[in-house]
Amino acid sequence: MKNIKNQNFNNQNAIIRVDFNCPIKNGKVLDSFRIDQTIETFRYLLNSGIKKVIVLTHLGRPKSKYELDLSLKPVVAYFKEKMISLGFYNLKIKLLDYNDDFSKCLLQAQAAENGIVFFENIRFWDKEKQGDEKFSRQIAGLGVKYINDAFSVCHRNHASVTGVAQILPSYSGLLLSREIEEINQAIENPQRPAIAIVGGAKLDTKIPVLEALIKKYDKILVGGLVAVELEKNKEKLDSDIKKNLGKKIILPLGYMDKDKKDIDLESAQKFAQIIQQAKTILWNGPLGKFEEKPYHKGSQVVGKAVAQSNAYKITGGGETNELLKLLGVFEKIDFISTGGGAMLQYIGGEKLPGIEVLRN
Ligand code: 3PG
Repeated sequence: MKNIKNQNFNNQNAIIRVDFNCPIKNGKVLDSFRIDQTIETFRYLLNSGIKKVIVLTHLGRPKSKYELDLSLKPVVAYFKEKMISLGFYNLKIKLLDYNDDFSKCLLQAQAAENGIVFFENIRFWDKEKQGDEKFSRQIAGLGVKYINDAFSVCHRNHASVTGVAQILPSYSGLLLSREIEEINQAIENPQRPAIAIVGGAKLDTKIPVLEALIKKYDKILVGGLVAVELEKNKEKLDSDIKKNLGKKIILPLGYMDKDKKDIDLESAQKFAQIIQQAKTILWNGPLGKFEEKPYHKGSQVVGKAVAQSNAYKITGGGETNELLKLLGVFEKIDFISTGGGAMLQYIGGEKLPGIEVLRN
C-alpha cells in the first residue's frame, strides 16, 4: 500500500476521504478527535503545494436526502478554526451547498477557489452507499489522485471509500498508514505478556476478535454484555473459544446487580491484577453500562490499572474512547484508533475493502 509520502502533489487537485463523523450538539463538535487526527495529512498536502483538496466525509447515518442535523456545517467550522490556529490564515476552506442533483455540486467544486473544498455529508446521496460507479467517476473527475485517511470506514464498500480508489492512483493518508502499522504491531507482534480487554454489547462482532486474540494474546479479560452472552451461549461456541474459557479467556466472577449491568468489584480487582503484569494492553469495549452510574465502577477500577501500567496501550471504538475520557485516562493511552467496527473487523482477520483497494 502506497502512502502519500514522497508522492508529487504540486499544483494538482486531489480527493481525500476522511472520517469526520464526530458527535455534535447544539451546532458544535463535542469531540474533535477524529478531525484532529487527520490534520497532519492536510498539513503535509498543503506543504507539498497541492492546489485543491476535495474532502469527502459522512456524518451519522442519514435516512433522507438532506438532514439539517447531519450537515457538515459544525464540522467545517471546527476544521477552519483548527487550521487557523495552526497558522493557515489564508487558506480557503469551503463547504459546498447541498443539491439533490449531484452534478450541480460538481460544478460548484470545479468553480471553487483553490484550497480545501468539502462536499456536504456524502451519505446525503444514496449513490454513496450503493458504491455507484457513475457517482464514483463523477467524483474522480475532480482530481488526479485519491487519498484515503479514514480507517474507520474502510469496512464499507462505498463510492468514496472503494469506488473512487478504483479509478484514480490511490494512496493512504498518514493517519491510515499509522493506524494499520499500530494495529498490525499490536496483533502480530505484541510485547508479552499481552493482555486484551474486550467488552461492549455485541457478541457476534467480538467472536472473530476473540478467535484472533486467542492465537496471539496471553489473557483476554471479558466484560460487558459480551461476557454475559458468552456464558449464556457456552454450549454453542466455537471450540477454540470454549476450550479457552477460564484459561486464556477470563470471565467476570460475578456482577454488580441482577441485570448484570456491570462486573462486580472482585472481578474488576482480579482484572486489575492481571493487567499489572502486561507489556501490551489492547482494549475494546466497556465492561459495564458505564453511562448509567454506578455501572461505570468496574471499568473505573480496570481503567485505573491500565493508566498506571507501563505497558504499550492501544484502544479503539467510540464507546471505549468515551469511557476513557470519562475516567480521565484518555491521555495515558499510547495509540487510540479512530476505528470502531473497522478495527474489530481488522483484528478479526477480515479483509477491509477500503484497504484492499489501496494494495492493488
Ligand atoms: C464509525 O463511527 O464507526 C464510522 O464513522 C463508520 O460509521 P458507519 O458505521 O455508519 O459506517
